[in-house]
Amino acid sequence: MGQDSPRQQLIATAREAVVERGVLPFGRPMLSDRERAAVMQVLHGPILTHGPRVQAFESAFAAFTGAPHAIATSTCTASLHLAYMSLGLAAGDEVIVPAMSHVATAHAVELCGGRCVFVDAEPLTGNIDIDLIERSITPRTRAVCVVHFLGMPVDMARVCRIAEKHDLFVIEDCALALGARYRGDHVGLWGDVGCFSFYPAKHITTGEGGMTITRRDDVAEMTARQRAFGIDRNIISERTIPGEYDVESLGANYRMTEMAAAIGVEQMRRLGGFLQQRRENYEILSEGLREIQEIETLTSSHGPFESAYYCHCIVLDGSQQWRRREIIEGLRSRGIGTSIYYPQPIPMLSWYRQNYGHRDEDFPVASRVSAASIALPVGPHLNGDDMRYIVAVVKEAFPE
Ligand SMILES: Cc1ncc(COP(=O)(O)O)c(C=O)c1O
Repeated sequence: MGQDSPRQQLIATAREAVVERGVLPFGRPMLSDRERAAVMQVLHGPILTHGPRVQAFESAFAAFTGAPHAIATSTCTASLHLAYMSLGLAAGDEVIVPAMSHVATAHAVELCGGRCVFVDAEPLTGNIDIDLIERSITPRTRAVCVVHFLGMPVDMARVCRIAEKHDLFVIEDCALALGARYRGDHVGLWGDVGCFSFYPAKHITTGEGGMTITRRDDVAEMTARQRAFGIDRNIISERTIPGEYDVESLGANYRMTEMAAAIGVEQMRRLGGFLQQRRENYEILSEGLREIQEIETLTSSHGPFESAYYCHCIVLDGSQQWRRREIIEGLRSRGIGTSIYYPQPIPMLSWYRQNYGHRDEDFPVASRVSAASIALPVGPHLNGDDMRYIVAVVKEAFPE
């Protein structure tokens, strides 16, 4: 038997550490006894909705982001829908939407009767290609939506300049970007509205949950009303006689429960630690994977762009793209969970393909990232040993 190479030794050592810890899922909610106790406290009391925990969660979120207003909702999709409702988007209005996103980004426009005008991604970050925005503007355009793809902030100064010039609203989909900052300001506060998600794999979770932040008093007031049927008085401080209210606008029931908010309050206390672990994990992967010729990594934090490190996204080059499934299965067989962001550009999903008639060639960058990328985990459920193991296993997939 010959001696193991340094790389094989590294794999063996890292594997031992991981075998002790079990599989490494892409995401895992970080719930402790504190979250469990907080939910139990709610369940022992009479207030399950419209209560103090939602207010406490909103305050903690506002303090962390620096937002003048934070309004908790049932999901990020609800927050996005409310954003367009509060800004008065109407049938036939157009919104510039990144092709590379979760379908919720586009559905929110459609739910208001609006029409998406999809714009391709730029290759370095996967964010909307700002150079393509202006040529997509028509007399019907009312808003630009950006997504901070995988936690990497969009160049908001450039987007806001274009929006101002053409008198457009700016909506920031921050579902993957809690903790991301641009020029020191938290994302979500550059445009008119920012929307966050607390789905289990996100930076913090409340099971399902969302948050709207805004600097605009009018948008905050409309969002708060429209998340509760458009009722003109909130139940905590303004409805002294139960049942006495009027309805001045359309609305939905997009409220967050007290149980969810109780989890959110505890998660906010731990957010700083979660973000630190994500950053450390990301850096170990970046350093370790740098020498693999056949992959590119989407650009991360630099200068004024501070990422929230949602995951570590590698993009296989043309010679390796066809092996993506095999590589993902190889990682899975060694206990490493992965994901894909996103399986197809939104306009290539059946519903949008049928209703908008686009072809793959219309979004070459988004199509390539969808077809060739693998999202590796960096969440705070994993540590440095886990990252070194992932590096070793990914390297195994690309023989020298
Ligand atoms: C960019 C983006 N926007 C919106 C959403 C929808 O979030 P939610 O599940 O909270 O509605 C997601 C979900 O992952 C997302 O990735």
